Amino acid sequence: MKILLFGKGGQVGWELQRSLAPLGELVALDFDSTDFCGDFTRPEALAETVRSVRPDVIVNAAAHTAVDKAESEPELARTINAAAPGVLAREATTLGAWLVHYSTDYVFDGSGSQPWKETDTPAPLNVYGHTKLEGERLIAQHCAQHLILRTSWVYAARGGNFAKTMLRLARERDRLTVINDQFGAPTGAELLADVTAHALRHLLQRPTDAGLYHLAASGETTWHGYAQEVLAIARAAGVALKAETADAVPTSAFATPARRPHNSRLSTQKIQQTFGLKLPPWQQGVTRMLAEVI
Ligand SMILES: NC(=O)c1ccc[n+]([C@@H]2O[C@H](COP(=O)([O-])OP(=O)(O)OC[C@H]3O[C@@H](n4cnc5c(N)ncnc54)[C@H](OP(=O)(O)O)[C@@H]3O)[C@@H](O)[C@H]2O)c1
Repeated sequence: MKILLFGKGGQVGWELQRSLAPLGELVALDFDSTDFCGDFTRPEALAETVRSVRPDVIVNAAAHTAVDKAESEPELARTINAAAPGVLAREATTLGAWLVHYSTDYVFDGSGSQPWKETDTPAPLNVYGHTKLEGERLIAQHCAQHLILRTSWVYAARGGNFAKTMLRLARERDRLTVINDQFGAPTGAELLADVTAHALRHLLQRPTDAGLYHLAASGETTWHGYAQEVLAIARAAGVALKAETADAVPTSAFATPARRPHNSRLSTQKIQQTFGLKLPPWQQGVTRMLAEVI
């Protein structure tokens, strides 16, 4: 089996390089790869890449993920998050290949307090969410053999993330203030990559299970709860912190260009049932990630 991975240097892309390697021959590209084009601002060149590599599976971990920046560059976000995945979907269908893609809790408006199901109606609040939703729809329209995984609050040991920022700030400052009215589940790139590999193997045996799934670690918290957990783990590991705890504030305390949903809870019942999975509590992956970075 030949797998073509886009966005290999991102949080999820980096972990996919590990989890997909045992499944077959892996061609992994970034936006500046030289052998083949992996630049999502050039959708037609991406099509050429697919035609040349002729993969059995395309996995797309590339995205415009700068949520606030997307508000001021909507066309760029649309090209990367929607137009380019749409081109990959058409090329995958021509080849008879599978397309795996990631999307986001930000396709929802964050109303209510129930976990969002795959059948719930999306209503994005910001440009990022709109472009990701358009990407999902183009894929579903042009490629029946697809796996779209909507996830939330992604972190990884590699690169920057919320937990590392909290650790740094707690070392530097006496006080931290963190939002406590947005709810979701921090989800590790490792978990996303491992579940992707597992689901792919399943789908090759049972192609009728293709489709859209929500995938996040189990349980829920707020950014404030997440920060408190990070500080507690750091303290237990003997890290010297100036800020002992974080103060809770509402979203309105921080003005950002992009509006964000209050309810980012995702129901993962469908993915757990279909693929025979038990998703671990969010604290487990965060503890593991911090053990690597502390
Ligand atoms: N991060 C989250 O909290 C979160 C939440 C929900 C869903 N998701 C989804 O999960 C998936 C993976 O996200 P992630 O957290 O791994 O994001 P990430 O770390 O930002 O990775 C995205 C990758 O795409 C690359 N990229 C940006 N512009 C590109 C272009 N023009 N051509 C090719 N590659 C380009 C980035 O390169 P540079 O780093 O060099 O720009 C980066 O390597 C995405 O579909 C995202 O929408 C993420």
